[in-house]
Amino acid sequence: METSIIQLQQEIDLFVISNAQELEAFKLEFTVRKGRIAGLFAQLKNVDPADRPRIGQLLNTLKQSADGKVVEAEERLAEATPASQPTIDISMPGRRTYCGSEHPVQKVLGDMKRIFTAMGFGIATGPELELDEYNFDLLNFPPNHPARDMQDTFFVTRGQSEGDILLRTHTSPVQVRVMLDQEPPIRVICPGKVYRNEAISARSYCVFHQLEGLYIDKNVSFADLKATIYSFARQMFGSDVKLRFRPSFFPFTEPSAEVDVTCYLCGGKGCRVCKKSGWLEIMGCGMVHPNVMRNCGIDPEKWTGYAFGMGVDRTTLLRYKIDDIRLLFENDVRMLSQFSA
Ligand code: PHE
Repeated sequence: METSIIQLQQEIDLFVISNAQELEAFKLEFTVRKGRIAGLFAQLKNVDPADRPRIGQLLNTLKQSADGKVVEAEERLAEATPASQPTIDISMPGRRTYCGSEHPVQKVLGDMKRIFTAMGFGIATGPELELDEYNFDLLNFPPNHPARDMQDTFFVTRGQSEGDILLRTHTSPVQVRVMLDQEPPIRVICPGKVYRNEAISARSYCVFHQLEGLYIDKNVSFADLKATIYSFARQMFGSDVKLRFRPSFFPFTEPSAEVDVTCYLCGGKGCRVCKKSGWLEIMGCGMVHPNVMRNCGIDPEKWTGYAFGMGVDRTTLLRYKIDDIRLLFENDVRMLSQFSA
């Protein structure tokens, strides 16, 4: 036993600790709970009781010298990599932070919202995943009517008991939700994303933005609709803009019209963008169909109303002279950074 202790003491004295790994190795070998010193302590019970105090004393000395060596090495190594040495190099050039910017579509939507809210319209939003019932049925689209094909629909589920679920093809279902929810008078705009399964090209994409408006009150007439659209168009496109209302068809309005503005790129003279016509189509509109009112619990004998709906993306393309609608959805920072304030 004594010779083992002397031998171990020699090994401990000769062990060179010059880095953290060696320190770790030393502890593993000698001082941990299952290390060699502990191994010798475990043998103490086999020693002749008369020798036990002396051997125990030797073992304690051995342990103290190993522990001391650990403490000494820890202090020495900590000093070699002093924490007081600065780890920040203050002479290094700083990192630039980049500031995001409002998306051009949101800028145009913002302008549209400002114009309408100043006229007293509130803002309503609704889900992009919609029930067929709200997107079509309640808006007076008869079942299996070809009018549904006007808007190539992305269906999500079909034949479910709660009805088909689809990606809304226009923001008109938000108007349905508002009518079901509120008593007239109603005056809201509904901005948002809509989806159509169209062939993708520079001019059309499978997702785009609409802003629709709905006004229901007593004695609302087509003249009120025209005045509202005129006021909007002058603020949005310039005070000398002219408007043209063309008769059209939508299942949810009667009568219905499509609205053109004089091309604000060529001033109506005719250019590539307006296809030499001098006019740009900006929206669909009309008087809310009595069937739609009834479907939503509003008495069409008592109330009348108008609705309009416009695309936001085409106006964005024209305003910022962007020639491909897909650029609005790809979120390429090289494109978006050109719109920082
Ligand atoms: N919802 C129609 C569309 O998406 C636009 C519209 C809205 C037309 C309101 C008339 C009245 O094409």
